[in-house]
Amino acid sequence: LGTNGWFLRDDFITPAQVAELRACAARRLQAGEFTPARIGTGPAAQRVEDIRGDAICWLQEPLLPAETHWLAQLEQLRAHLNRELLLGLFELEMHYARYPPGGAYGRHVDQPAGSRARRVSLVLYLNDAWAAQDGGELRLHRDTEDALDIAPLAGRLVGFLSERQAHEVLACRKERLSLSGWMRVRP
Ligand code: OGA
Ligand code: MN
Repeated sequence: LGTNGWFLRDDFITPAQVAELRACAARRLQAGEFTPARIGTGPAAQRVEDIRGDAICWLQEPLLPAETHWLAQLEQLRAHLNRELLLGLFELEMHYARYPPGGAYGRHVDQPAGSRARRVSLVLYLNDAWAAQDGGELRLHRDTEDALDIAPLAGRLVGFLSERQAHEVLACRKERLSLSGWMRVRP
């Protein structure tokens, strides 16, 4: 993250934890807690399915045990990043994101207009047995090199600097589940 502005770590969580978090997501889905994602913020927010096809569910109280554990792991990561990179990361927001087959998210940067609070973007993937033909790669755009395509494999954590890293989600051919979030500085 400090050198290139992004990082990738496989097996950030165990297969057992992936299964637990998938079960949490399934439960919240059944409870009707997922809502279609929107683009833009405040009154300007709108649903444009061609640009952003996922449904999201914010991680908020009451949390399930596996979710509490996951947030504690991220808390360690936050402390580590602050120690090593002096980023002043203060808090975390995170949501599940579920793309149906055909879903995608066009090229964007993760900072809503008018706010520079989001500094580090994180995505943890929860997709078992994901094959190349399933698509759904995270594409990181780069200035001088070819874009980098990252498959959404279970247990894989990707992070990047929110402010400068343009990225997109390529269309997937089967359901694609993740936890995405942002570490923020004080507003
Ligand atoms: C996002 C996003 C990337 C991914 O939710 O803003 O870009 O790979 N997610 O799911
Ligand atoms: Mn994004």
